[in-house]
Order: sequence, then structure tokens, then C-alpha cells
Amino acid sequence: MSLLDRLRAEIEADGPINVAQYMHRCLHDPRDGYYATRPAIGDGGDFITAPVISQMFGELLGLWAVETWTRLGKPSPFRLVEMGPGDGTLMSDLLRAVRLAPDFVAAADLWMIETSAPLAALQKAKLEGAVLTPTWGASIADIPAGAPVILIANELLDCLPARQFVHAGGGWVERLVGVGPDGALAFGLAPTKDGSTPPPDSPILEVSDAQEALGQALGALIAREGGAALLIDYGRGEPEFGDTLQALKGHEKVDPLAFPGESDLTVYADFPVVRDAARKAGAAATDAIPQGLFLGMLGIQHRADSLKAARPDRAEVIDRQLARLVAPDQMGELFKAACIHAPDLVPPGFEAPAA
Ligand SMILES: C[S@@+](CC[C@H](N)C(=O)[O-])C[C@H]1O[C@@H](n2cnc3c(N)ncnc32)[C@H](O)[C@@H]1O
Repeated sequence: MSLLDRLRAEIEADGPINVAQYMHRCLHDPRDGYYATRPAIGDGGDFITAPVISQMFGELLGLWAVETWTRLGKPSPFRLVEMGPGDGTLMSDLLRAVRLAPDFVAAADLWMIETSAPLAALQKAKLEGAVLTPTWGASIADIPAGAPVILIANELLDCLPARQFVHAGGGWVERLVGVGPDGALAFGLAPTKDGSTPPPDSPILEVSDAQEALGQALGALIAREGGAALLIDYGRGEPEFGDTLQALKGHEKVDPLAFPGESDLTVYADFPVVRDAARKAGAAATDAIPQGLFLGMLGIQHRADSLKAARPDRAEVIDRQLARLVAPDQMGELFKAACIHAPDLVPPGFEAPAA
């Protein structure tokens, strides 16, 4: 029985589910969930991410990690952590870049936090022979206590589920996934208090308890152990309304309800909520700044120039990759970077005031 058939049967038996429950099942159902069974990152897959676009991304995050470690006073040991490491490209590029700092490598205890067995296998293969050998864990609770943490997570927040609400009938009403008259999955609303029907274009409010919980957990970890956690993702830098639930299959946007478990489902990262949860847990946290600005602060133009000098035949490709990462009309504005950090650390790349 497919996940679609199982969801349909469960909804018919027990009633509609909320959008966060639907996302969670589609991504992590042990039998048919997207990340549990068939995650496909890259040109031949369903979606592409910054490290897969260009080696410059992982290399610059490697330099970010070394500079963060230096500003922390070069602690030894420290935990170098990637959360949601995908196909391992980011860590592979990062570890190549940090070979320039042998004392950093000697002090690092490398952890990969991953819930997807197929992706953990890809990561293992990609990091074979790298300068550090990782330990895998399923949650940041697996990271041993007793040393500062330098953590990187690219495009993790956007796969943590959100619920959706519409303001109607004098209160907030939850958007639900049910079964329509034709037997297909369909969006609907929980009943309003006064029985009224909201206009079809009513603004949608997204609430991600899972993103807030991660902000809280990272804030508590950094408050306890010291260090910094860098979060990069597409999403909102200010509170705003909007339905951002998106499904990608073969690089095309598809109906989020049409292919449960067979498409990648995401929502916007909610940076203000993550920042506030981290601060409440005792850490400092920056506002989100545009990815283009952040990578510019880390010297991406300089890195692109040196790659082009080494390989003039690839200059056009490198310029295209650079534009994809930093141009405001590509990933430069919609994607953002934020840092949860020890209060006495000024995290590299965040020295400039947010625009
Ligand atoms: C969109 S991919 C991003 C991959 C990679 N960071 C990149 O930039 O290419 C999301 C990653 O997060 C992992 N993931 C999803 N939910 C997770 C969770 N709750 N904890 C840890 N990893 C998770 C996925 O398995 C996958 O590795």
C-alpha cells in the first residue's frame, strides 16, 4: 500500500491531519517517507542546494569555522558538527579547506547529525579518506558534553514541519489535510467558532513548533558548552504571513498533496522564531542576514577570482555559480544566514549591521 493510500485510509478512519503531521509523514514515514527512502539532491535529483552548486560554499564555511574557532580562543577539543548534511558535499569541501589549519583539524571531534539512512550512507562514502572521520548521531542530544560546539546546518530548518492557520470567525482556524469528494487528498479548514467561511485568499500564518524547538535546543547547547551554530536557509527574516509549503520533484514545483513521500516538502525557515527561542534558552543570536551579504563578508568574490585564475577555461561556469549563490534575484536575498553564539563571541560574517 503506497503512502498516499495509507494516508487516505487513516484520514477516512480518524479524520483530517494538520499540515505539520502531513509534512512529517511525507518526509520521515519509515516505509515510504522521502528522506527515509529516496532523497535525491543534485542535477539528476529533485532539488539542488548551495554546496552542490559550487565548492566555494563548503570551502568558505570551512574558513568560517576556522575563524570562529580562533575567535573562541582555539579550544581543544571542540565538536565540529554538521546537522542535516545531505549528500556530504558541504563537509567534504569544508574538510578540504580546513587542511590549511592543522591545529584546527587536530582539535576537532567531527559529528554528523542525520536522520536519513540513505543520506548517511552517501556521506560515509563521500568522506572516505577525508582529514577527519565523523561519528554519526540522530539528534544534537547525541553530541557529548564537555567541549564547545561549532555547528553548521544548511537547508535543515526548511524541512522541519509547520502548521498553518487562517484567521476566521473571530479566531485562528487550522488548515487541515483531508480527503476530497474525488478521493484525492485536499486542503480544508477546521470548523470556525461561528460557522463562517473565511474568504479564499485569507492570509495564512505558519507556526513551526519543530523549528522553535531546534532554536531552543541549539540555544541551550551553545549556552551550556559555548561555541556557535550557523543556520543557512531560505525563509523569512521578519514575521510575515504566507503559505510557503512547497513540493519539488525533478526540480519542478508540484502540488504538495499529489506525491506524498515522492517529492521534497519544505516551508520557509522562520528565523525570528528560531532566534528568539535561542535567546530565551540563554545564548546570543543574530538576526538573519542575506546569504549574498554573508558570503560576500567571507570573501566569496576573492575565492571565485582565484578559482578562475587557476582554471580560466571554467571562468564562465564559476561566474554563473557565484551569481547563483549571491545575486539578489537568485539565492542571495531569499536565502539567509543567522548565528546562535556564545555571548562573548562576534561570529565571523555578521560584523556588518543587517541591511
Ligand atoms: C534539504 S537537505 C540539505 C542537505 C545539505 N545540508 C545541503 O545543503 O546539501 C536536508 C537534510 O536534513 C536532514 N534532516 C531532515 N530532518 C532532520 C532532522 N530532524 N534532524 C537531522 N537531520 C535532518 C535530511 O536528511 C537532509 O540531510
